[in-house]
Amino acid sequence: MSGFSSKWLALREPLDLAARNREVETAFQRHLPSSSPRLLDLASGAGSTVAALKGRLPADTMWTLTDHDPALIAVARDRWQRQLQGALSLRQIDLAANVEDLPFAEVDAVTTSAFLDLVSEAFLERLVGCVIRAQKPFLASLTYDGRITFAPQASLDNTMRDVLNSDQRLDKGFGPALGPFAAERAIALFKAGGYEVVNGTSDWNVGPSDEGFLEEFLSGWSGVGLKNGISQDDLDGWRLQHLTQMRSGDIRVTIGHIDFAAFPKSKV
Ligand SMILES: C[S@@+](CC[C@H](N)C(=O)[O-])C[C@H]1O[C@@H](n2cnc3c(N)ncnc32)[C@H](O)[C@@H]1O
Repeated sequence: MSGFSSKWLALREPLDLAARNREVETAFQRHLPSSSPRLLDLASGAGSTVAALKGRLPADTMWTLTDHDPALIAVARDRWQRQLQGALSLRQIDLAANVEDLPFAEVDAVTTSAFLDLVSEAFLERLVGCVIRAQKPFLASLTYDGRITFAPQASLDNTMRDVLNSDQRLDKGFGPALGPFAAERAIALFKAGGYEVVNGTSDWNVGPSDEGFLEEFLSGWSGVGLKNGISQDDLDGWRLQHLTQMRSGDIRVTIGHIDFAAFPKSKV
């Protein structure tokens, strides 16, 4: 099981919201009913997809949020229940075991964010199969794609990117993860299933004001470096170099993501 704390999800949410690709979201929205759309969101965490789309969708949108983590389900309930005024249902489910149990046929569209890079090829095929059989539009936001650049650079950056990208391929509860290849694989599966796809980048643009995020991100990433045989001294030096840049207001980190929307061709 992979664990995501609500603290980490809250630190990344502003970057997610700024990064989401508006053209992809607009293309997705065009395939929703104009009133009372029913959306099924997969691996919802604290409900970041609601935060992203709420202002752009009809006020009577009905949301079903899903996650396996009861703590995150509780955070999502606290956060959204009152605001969505009864148009919210929450479902605790292990998607790896039971994705087929979800009511794909009874919603108007399926969404997810920051999730597909965690899953395996086999799970992705099951998920895409569920969506295609139900002939529903699908929106996948913020799938990590393996690109990370720092400005200014540090000498360990490329090594650190490579260890992160190989760590992203480890099992996150669904079998060996697709990691950086997930979006391109998902797009290919939807196209092979007769879907039309609109896709674009949704990169995080991290700057000096994202202090809380950067500290947590570099610290978690150093842990991955340590597991992969990089010395603690080298990791401390790398992290300090970037934190010093941040504190002097001179850092820019770009972290690559892909958004895509997929629809049955006949509905385009
Ligand atoms: C990176 S977080 C993204 C959360 C949210 N969609 C967002 O954009 O903030 C990945 C989410 O996948 C959920 N998850 C991981 N494995 C899962 C599983 N087997 N079944 C259901 N949810 C799972 C985690 O609990 C977490 O909420």
